[in-house]
Amino acid sequence: MNEDEHRMSERRIGIVMNGVTGRMGLNQHLIRSVLAIRKEGGVALADGLRLIPDPILVGRNAAKLEAIAKEHGVARWTTDLRGALADKDDAIYFDSQLTAMRAPSVAAAIAAGKHVYCEKPLAEESAVAMRLAELAKAAGVKHGVVQDKLFLPGMRKLKRLVDSGFFGRIFSVRGEFGYWVFEGDWQPAQRPSWNYRKQDGGGIIKDMFCHWRYVLDHTFGRVRAVQCLGGTAIPERWDEQGVRYDGTADDTAYGTFELDGGIVAQINSSWSFRVYRDELFSLQVDGTLGSAVAGLRECRTQHRVTTPRPVWNPDIENPFRFREQWEDVPDNEVFDNGFKVQWEMFLRHVAEGKAFPHDFVEGARGVQLAELGLRSWAERRWIDVPELGS
Ligand SMILES: NC(=O)c1ccc[n+]([C@@H]2O[C@H](COP(=O)([O-])OP(=O)(O)OC[C@H]3O[C@@H](n4cnc5c(N)ncnc54)[C@H](O)[C@@H]3O)[C@@H](O)[C@H]2O)c1
Repeated sequence: MNEDEHRMSERRIGIVMNGVTGRMGLNQHLIRSVLAIRKEGGVALADGLRLIPDPILVGRNAAKLEAIAKEHGVARWTTDLRGALADKDDAIYFDSQLTAMRAPSVAAAIAAGKHVYCEKPLAEESAVAMRLAELAKAAGVKHGVVQDKLFLPGMRKLKRLVDSGFFGRIFSVRGEFGYWVFEGDWQPAQRPSWNYRKQDGGGIIKDMFCHWRYVLDHTFGRVRAVQCLGGTAIPERWDEQGVRYDGTADDTAYGTFELDGGIVAQINSSWSFRVYRDELFSLQVDGTLGSAVAGLRECRTQHRVTTPRPVWNPDIENPFRFREQWEDVPDNEVFDNGFKVQWEMFLRHVAEGKAFPHDFVEGARGVQLAELGLRSWAERRWIDVPELGS
């Protein structure tokens, strides 16, 4: 193919990317998704064309943007968000800024006629998130929120088991999420300091309940009620500059959720638990016919016919090697980076109207569960989760 033919088989799509100096924006969205898609020659569309994402990096710090652009061979960057949104040649706005900054920027992008894709939480309050959903609908723009955990190999294999009927009737889901995040004094913290300050939009309930909402809704059944107890295990931390600050946000949450079908899900989330499991996240599912334990990448099962018969007897050496009695679910497919898979879906949604279930109403549902979790903790009671959207 000569250069002209090459160009004719390609279709460019401009993406205004805001928040790419951050951890998620840079690693997952710019490098592993948008630039990886470019490197592969774009996304294949049904009409045979290749859709090539063309990012313009937006942020507050010119020096940082310039350095990132240079290092990764990105041609365009700017500190002028308003100007970038005004450019009709760029069809999509992406946002991975600090959560507290998201809603006004997303609203401005919708007003400028952009399709919008963004990190979770969509907003700090579910009413604001639903308002963004309404604005996007009224403007006729496409909208989406990152729901990356659904695309993890472990979760994909778990979903496969659910869809196959492997479990029989599921009654219990138990999750452990977390790892030790260093305080920042004698070893630097491996997460941004705003995560631990309530006044800056931090807190593990706000952060993780968005994820638990779509994981539970999409894998097992709709979340109908929540009960949550939060806490701040580490009240004193040191920030990126080594300055001491008060940890004002929750860093630990013990959540229980009632789902459709009478399923009870319990998920512990913490940045102050030390890991004694195979992965940073693990979810055990028990059903009448079998059980499974899924992590980020792995998924293991035990069927009723291979279930051992333990008898309680602490007077003897434990005769069971319980972990060895579980069987690996094979991959049976190649799992690409989950963020990239979702980006490709969103790009196809914009370019050719392909279905994209992870929209702003879904984003609002995540924010709603976080909000109700916080309320449950404050009021020390179970709270029903009202239906949002249709
Ligand atoms: N999907 C996931 O698994 C996942 C994981 C972590 C974080 N997130 C979400 O991604 C978003 C960014 O998180 P992160 O961990 O990359 O944070 P980060 O602190 O590394 O990045 C924050 C970004 O926002 C920008 N920003 C804009 N205004 C700012 C302000 N006033 N103060 C500070 N920064 C400002 C920063 O320049 C930076 O680009 C958050 O909304 C978070 O909830 C999602």
